Amino acid sequence: MAEEAAGAPPGGVQGEVPAASQGAKGSNVPVVPLSVLDGGVHAGEDPPPYAASPAVPRPRAHRAVEEGGIEEGVGLTALMVAAARAIETGRPDALARDEYAAHFVRAAPARAHWPVCPQDVPGLDADPLWGRLGRYFALRTRVFDDHLLRRAQAGTRQVVLLGAGLDTRAYRLDWPAGSIVYELDRPGVLAFKQRTLDALAARPRAHRVTIPIDLRLDWTAALLAAGFDPAAPTAWLAEGLLLYLPPAAERHLVRTVHDHSAPGSALAWEAKLGVETEAVRTSPVYTAARDRIGVDLLALFDPEPRPDSAADLAALGWTTAVRTPYDFSRRFGRGPLPEPDDALAANRWTFAGLPER
Ligand SMILES: C[S@@+](CC[C@H](N)C(=O)[O-])C[C@H]1O[C@@H](n2cnc3c(N)ncnc32)[C@H](O)[C@@H]1O
Repeated sequence: MAEEAAGAPPGGVQGEVPAASQGAKGSNVPVVPLSVLDGGVHAGEDPPPYAASPAVPRPRAHRAVEEGGIEEGVGLTALMVAAARAIETGRPDALARDEYAAHFVRAAPARAHWPVCPQDVPGLDADPLWGRLGRYFALRTRVFDDHLLRRAQAGTRQVVLLGAGLDTRAYRLDWPAGSIVYELDRPGVLAFKQRTLDALAARPRAHRVTIPIDLRLDWTAALLAAGFDPAAPTAWLAEGLLLYLPPAAERHLVRTVHDHSAPGSALAWEAKLGVETEAVRTSPVYTAARDRIGVDLLALFDPEPRPDSAADLAALGWTTAVRTPYDFSRRFGRGPLPEPDDALAANRWTFAGLPER
């Protein structure tokens, strides 16, 4: 069971955080000049034709997701999170360190001017984008790092990252021998990620399998074909993904996870509660991301009412614990705290676990 759901301190606070989750210091990240990566990117790759799925109908045209690359639509959100992790990596009090993150940003030609270290952002802590939102992403990274490592320490050897984006956990974290990490995301994002990691000669610390797919469709066959073992306990993670999916796709995703989860499996995810007020929707976090770097989060979020996936899983026998980011920032003594008209106030991180047999 996920410790978070059992009431123990979430997020690896109180000194119990495995050292590996602190970052890649001393890890196998090679020192590669950022310039090596320039010019290697081909945004907007076409995904392969979609298979018709009886479970989830072919989605309506959705501008943000149909565009396939890292530099457009929802793909750009992965790059924004990478930039946040790059900046965090340079903080003396970093919540998480990701030595690969800056390389991703520098490898995306049109975004190569984005900041990748604290010195690039004057007045960092007051900056709504790279200070507040960026630190939120760093906190989220750390909390889910710790969660996944705890699952690994408890014996889970199979990890599935849904909407993996530029997540480098397969490379950064100290996985036990025999661990396998599946990464699912859109083809253009995974292709960009692979090119960048290949240019760094990066070597994963677990067996890593990438599955290029649109998660609005039925992804079960692709996962099974890639070697996923539904009889083994799995740590599933949907970090920064569900907000972009239509409700039917979220329900299908959660049901698929349930149907392929052996006893002892866990699913963690990020979601937003309810509808944000106009004051929140025009608050600096959203407007700065839109106006300064062209990431219009509100336009990318699916506008339909969200399912209550925690309740759905509870009805299927899972235990669930719903946390706010502030539960963790208060415990760490770092990271964002509540503010008026807060774009982070509705965010929830849920930890669900299927009991051991
Ligand atoms: C905000 S990023 C988060 C990435 C990563 N989980 C992290 O936290 O760094 C959202 C990711 O979800 C992926 N995504 C969104 N909709 C998707 C879909 N329909 N199918 C596959 N991936 C999708 C995007 O390509 C992007 O990489």
